[in-house]
Amino acid sequence: MEHHINAGIAGTGMYIPEKLLTNADLEKMVDTSDEWITTRVGIRERHLAAPEETSSSMGSKAARMALAQACVSPAEVDLIIMATITPDVPWPASACFIQRELGASQAACFDIAAACTGFIYGLSLAQGFISTGMYKTVLVVAAETLSRITDWEDRNTAVLFGDAAGAAVLRPVAAPKGILATYLGADGSKGDLLELPAGGSRLPASHETVSARQHYIRMKGNEVFKFAARAMANSNKEALQRAGHKVEELDLLIPHQANMRIIEAAARLSNLPMEKVFLNIDRYGNTSAATTAVALCEALQQQRLKPDSLCLLVAFGGGFTWGSCLIRI
Ligand code: UT7
Repeated sequence: MEHHINAGIAGTGMYIPEKLLTNADLEKMVDTSDEWITTRVGIRERHLAAPEETSSSMGSKAARMALAQACVSPAEVDLIIMATITPDVPWPASACFIQRELGASQAACFDIAAACTGFIYGLSLAQGFISTGMYKTVLVVAAETLSRITDWEDRNTAVLFGDAAGAAVLRPVAAPKGILATYLGADGSKGDLLELPAGGSRLPASHETVSARQHYIRMKGNEVFKFAARAMANSNKEALQRAGHKVEELDLLIPHQANMRIIEAAARLSNLPMEKVFLNIDRYGNTSAATTAVALCEALQQQRLKPDSLCLLVAFGGGFTWGSCLIRI
């Protein structure tokens, strides 16, 4: 085995905005029903950011909690990676806003746009920087304000999303703890199945793009659905194989929380019983990159993960992107 430094989870944090939006509330906004949403998707309620909140303000709160838990001061952070598809502004990077908010003056900063897989891409990058010895303390923040890019008149998407932030502090840890393997995948040929069409260099913001509602999430749900479970199961297999672990050794699977039926299908394809699968989709809905970060934080809080537990994070999202991250806590 080659010599490299393992990156471990030193602390986690999360922030959920206060405002609650229930399925009953949505019934008054679009032609939908609590029954459809709970049976087809598995969501009961989701939280929405207050008008003054942004992805970086929520991300900073999650980051503070993670730093406090890790007993790390902001000045010790070498790098801030922000995973988001809802940055505060197109640029500069929202990671820079988090740096300013925390006073993490020594940290390098950048954002990554891997959609729902963003937290897992971020963990993989953090592991890379730590394992080479380039950085010692890496803060990975996954924060989304999807309510700002949700078309509240489109029942196909309005019922699915919520706002949230999660964070993790990564530091060197002695083997066999830490990130044991990651697997990242993408298929750019399917990018148009899940996208935000306007506001970039292809279709700059204009009166026309606003009236055509092109600044909102567009998704061919069914097409995404078909691909997601299989991609996640395959990704899990690859990550486990890279680390030389078997699926039976897993204590917990933390999947992206987009649809209960996708999670069940992915678990089935991975030969995992649902008792070993972490769920919080009913309370938060799909919060893109934040889902796996928040779920990791909650799994530790609820002691579903304890020291030495073997945990696999997996996600799938726009791009398409997908990935898995195997961690010994
Ligand atoms: O996070 C990134 C990755 N994203 C995902 O993984 C999401 C993947 N996709 C999904 O989770 C599902 O495809 C959805 C939840 C988006 C949709 O579920 P579905 O079972 O694929 O439904 P569908 O799109 O095939 O629509 C079935 C029916 C349609 O009616 P008709 O044409 O059969 O009469 C829809 O118009 O359900 C209707 N429908 C709704 N009915 C009530 C769609 N949305 C709603 C709604 N309430 N909110």
